[in-house]
Amino acid sequence: MKRSEQLFREARKHIPGGVNSPVRAFKAVGGVPKFIRKGKGAYIWDVDGKRYLDFVMSWGPLVLGHAHPNVIRAVADQAKNGTSFGTPTENEVELAELVKSAFPSIEKVRLVSSGTEAVMSAIRLARGVTGREKIVKCDGCYHGHVDSLLVQAGSGAATFGIASSKGIPEALAKLTISIPYNDTDILEGVLKRHAREIACFILEPVPANMGVILPKRGYLEKVRTLTRKYDVILIFDEVVTGFRIAFGGAQEKFGVEADLTCLGKILGGGLPIGAFGGRKELMDHLAPEGKVYQAGTLSGNPLATRSGIETLKQLRNKNFYQELERKSCAFYELLDSQIEKYSLPVTLNRIGSCFTLFFTEGPVTDFRSAKRADTKRYARFFHRLLASGIYVAPSQFETNFISEAH
Ligand SMILES: Cc1ncc(COP(=O)(O)O)c(C=O)c1O
Repeated sequence: MKRSEQLFREARKHIPGGVNSPVRAFKAVGGVPKFIRKGKGAYIWDVDGKRYLDFVMSWGPLVLGHAHPNVIRAVADQAKNGTSFGTPTENEVELAELVKSAFPSIEKVRLVSSGTEAVMSAIRLARGVTGREKIVKCDGCYHGHVDSLLVQAGSGAATFGIASSKGIPEALAKLTISIPYNDTDILEGVLKRHAREIACFILEPVPANMGVILPKRGYLEKVRTLTRKYDVILIFDEVVTGFRIAFGGAQEKFGVEADLTCLGKILGGGLPIGAFGGRKELMDHLAPEGKVYQAGTLSGNPLATRSGIETLKQLRNKNFYQELERKSCAFYELLDSQIEKYSLPVTLNRIGSCFTLFFTEGPVTDFRSAKRADTKRYARFFHRLLASGIYVAPSQFETNFISEAH
């Protein structure tokens, strides 16, 4: 028996489903997950010594590749001086400045330890500032496992067909209105009908958790206009897109500014981190200045901030994104040519270094069209790739990532 199989058998005795995050379990594609021992550049090695070209890249954070020497050095240096103090540190100031340099819409930013925490806190802030309780989200967008947002959610929830998680009070779920992405008529209808009850509209500006979906031309601009018109806080969840599709995320790429922005993944360069930020007058409602409480023992953790600072510094290098784009496009051209050559009924959605190969005829523009994909066929595709040493997302409704190291 392979070591991964032994370990998974063992893990299931101690850890629910054998994993600490559901999509790792290969449930959507079948089989036993690979236990990974090490990563370097674009590759990972499992405990049986097999090498894979990695397109999951820890689900997005590793835009520089695995074990980038500068990042590792910075983290090791920091570790020598201690790993947590529960006091302010220089790192936090430096990282906050870097975030602000990337996102002009952010005047103040608070660091947390995961994307989930960032979103949860941003929602609380929006509710606290406006005194309103309802929130609007998009079907198939995933914002971490925040109670209010596990309604028609993407990622693992989409993979497992869970419309809304058990354990979420009905009263809370009722405050969430979920609408299709890319449809501004429905958005306007909802905003009009519930004016003065809605605290915020939160979306992934470019959804990555039902697979990659691109905004229709003018969609994000219209979202901005409507949220202003109806006086609703606009939250962009840029946990995936931030520092990925451009240094300044979707806001830079599409020239649309959010009121609040959530970040994570690349921000920590592979260590646990999250952040949310926005205009001063909103952010100053947070404790200790204001009355919206938010806190964290390990928030702004020295190792995570050091890793983030080093990662963002690399990304600021001239031409980083052009080079990543060039590399990614060369790969997409190859994929496109094969799709055409064999007349495959698949649709390649992509932006920058993010892509999803949907096993359905296009266009795939929202959760409904994404769900047309043939997931059984995807599972076969996944296992053929895995056997040939290529590791893509173990679910149809996820994004694959290309790094600088590919
Ligand atoms: C868009 C988006 N928001 C939030 C999250 C939650 O982040 P975390 O898993 O760090 O809690 C994710 C995670 O995949 C995400 O893709």
